[in-house]
Amino acid sequence: MLMLDSPRKEPHFKVRDVPVYGNAVLSPMAGFSDLPYRSLCRHYGSAMSYTEFVSVIAFLAGPNRKTLRMLEYLPSERPVVFQIFDSDEDRIVEAARRLEEMGPDIIDLNMGCSVRKVSGRGAGAGLLRDPGKIGRIFARLSKAVRVPVTGKIRLGWDADSLNYLEVVRAMQDNGASLVAVHGRTKQQGYQGEADWDAIARVVEAARIPVIGNGDVRTPGDIQRLKRRTGCQAVMIGRGAIGHPWIFQRRSRAEIPFNDKAVFIRRHFDRMASFYGPSTALILIRKHIARYLKDYSGIKDLHRRLVQVESAEQLDDLLEQVTARLSSRSCQAA
Ligand SMILES: Cc1cc2nc3c(=O)[nH]c(=O)nc-3n(C[C@H](O)[C@H](O)[C@H](O)COP(=O)(O)O)c2cc1C
Repeated sequence: MLMLDSPRKEPHFKVRDVPVYGNAVLSPMAGFSDLPYRSLCRHYGSAMSYTEFVSVIAFLAGPNRKTLRMLEYLPSERPVVFQIFDSDEDRIVEAARRLEEMGPDIIDLNMGCSVRKVSGRGAGAGLLRDPGKIGRIFARLSKAVRVPVTGKIRLGWDADSLNYLEVVRAMQDNGASLVAVHGRTKQQGYQGEADWDAIARVVEAARIPVIGNGDVRTPGDIQRLKRRTGCQAVMIGRGAIGHPWIFQRRSRAEIPFNDKAVFIRRHFDRMASFYGPSTALILIRKHIARYLKDYSGIKDLHRRLVQVESAEQLDDLLEQVTARLSSRSCQAA
């Protein structure tokens, strides 16, 4: 196993003056990249910690408990990236100023969210329709805060407006220190294949580090995307849900269920101390479904696990799954 977390003298790359050791990063993912899961992935080799995207409007309204939780992090997660979304220039700058006081290493602007509620009001991928505005935002942001400011984009609004090179120029000419590129348009959502060649074109044109993103599901994909594009790092979203081992460059099939069961319990414990046990029991369920994704013949236990109601029941069910899967592999041997 590769020890990707071990300190090395030379960083893989720098986000302005922030060194990054490693070249695979857990994607910001609403509902998944919270402190418990982020910190576990960071420990397994994810090179940076992006928060879930945080609404600037909600933050400026006097952040509620949910928003503040999204902005909590452990020192061991650094470099920590606060990701924000909004459409309004003044609000974005004001929020960044206040967020900086909470100690992130980097502030990132989401320009990729395709959800209608967000992109339809000009935030997230909605910003891609106005590269001039993106330039203005970065010019103001990079003066307003001391930490590096970065952005995460898609290739454009739709196939007829693939303006990613213009967007990247607007960013870097106005002080952005890194761009993460999801190789799809807003229109595509998650359909079709991510266009890695477009990411290669960004790398070729950019003077700032580029993180490539889209459809990385295996350790081999990490290498392939890096080689194909020359990007400084790859960002892994869905391929890392239920599979933190990807940051150790291990495939899903390589991990014995025993290890998964131990990890799920650890994940739950972290959630329980962060959210409290009852919220953790609800939130762990969607993760459990993803940890169990590849197994057949455990439908009954699967169903009970995704409705788990106590820590004891979780232990008991995980033990039953382990026993069933190991007896099956014994029979197969
Ligand atoms: C459940 C979910 C939540 C997401 N939330 C965010 C988010 O908060 N911020 C963001 O920039 N992208 C978000 N994304 C997009 C991912 O970061 C990533 O760009 C996308 O999933 C493509 O990468 P993948 O093919 O590795 O999943 C989200 C994706 C998913 C599946």
